[in-house]
Amino acid sequence: MTVPAGTTVPASTGIAELGAEARRAHTSYGEGALVVCDQVVRIYSGAGIEVQALQGLDLLIEEGELVAMVGASGSGKSTLMNILAGLDTPTAGRVRVAGRDLGALTAGDRLAYRRRQVGFVWQQASRNLLPYLTARQNVATPMRLAGVGRRRRATMAMELLEVFGVADCANRTPSRMSGGEQQRTAIAAALANLPRLLLADEPTGELDSQTAQEVFAALQTANTELGATVLVVTHDPAVSAQVRRTVAIRDGRTSTETLRHDEADEAGNAVRHAVEYAVLDRAGRIQLPREMIEEHEMKDLVRLESEPDHIGVWASRPQAGTGDSDPAGPASREAR
Ligand SMILES: Nc1ncnc2c1ncn2[C@@H]1O[C@H](COP(=O)(O)OP(=O)(O)O)[C@@H](O)[C@H]1O
Ligand SMILES: [Mg+2]
Repeated sequence: MTVPAGTTVPASTGIAELGAEARRAHTSYGEGALVVCDQVVRIYSGAGIEVQALQGLDLLIEEGELVAMVGASGSGKSTLMNILAGLDTPTAGRVRVAGRDLGALTAGDRLAYRRRQVGFVWQQASRNLLPYLTARQNVATPMRLAGVGRRRRATMAMELLEVFGVADCANRTPSRMSGGEQQRTAIAAALANLPRLLLADEPTGELDSQTAQEVFAALQTANTELGATVLVVTHDPAVSAQVRRTVAIRDGRTSTETLRHDEADEAGNAVRHAVEYAVLDRAGRIQLPREMIEEHEMKDLVRLESEPDHIGVWASRPQAGTGDSDPAGPASREAR
């Protein structure tokens, strides 16, 4: 039998097409989003031990959003923030902010990215402001580094301090400001070059609840008045309850998201509804909430059953000696 010439062509075309499709799936993932984290992995290795801080994290943030990020200590939040800030690079996976692939920036582009595209505020006020400069000088410094002229720097710095309610601190150094004033000045400084993305890693962690509320209000101002997309890491439930979207990180992956929206009750008052969703990644993985796993004593293997409008998940507990090695899931009964 002769194989007609060209038979192999469709096969190789097939493989080429699969490859192209995989590439398309990667490049079109999150198209149009301001922040795209595509299966981001960050492994810290040293002294013979390896820590997988991020384990294939997916996250999309649209321009204009204000998103809260929560998660236990050590879950990878700061690792992600450092990568988004351009201070660290992922071990694998891709991070794109405003169309830039952060893993592929030259040193010069990386510096420009940090100066103009992204602003950050850390938990320790001392890390945000230079101690020997006044509030006004602290806000003007990022503009000076970006080549903004002296006059514009001065006007802009005062305007920003006013927007965040700390104009009276203009001529004070951080040691003569309260913790809340320092953080609001830090937000003003982070926004000096009008970045599209503002990152805040537990900015209210060292503040009392009243002051924390003021600092969070400043982040809302950054979002609504200055148009910055904001990602804020917080442990404060009062803060996360005020945002529309809260992303939870567990073991280096996004695990759940809580979305909130307002609805009018019968009397016409706005009532806030919150719905928690598990994140389904593109490989089909979800993380079941720990409480549910414990409540149903699930371990190692679970049984899935596709129903017309949902998927059922059953704990699978093989029972030795009974001959009945299956839980009472409907599928197992039908299969017998
Ligand atoms: N520079 C580092 N070297 C080694 N391990 C690190 C480093 N930074 C963070 N880690 C580890 O990575 C994991 C995630 O840390 P981190 O991102 O700081 O978590 P979070 O901010 O959620 O508390 C932790 O296990 C932490 O110990
Ligand atoms: Mg942290």
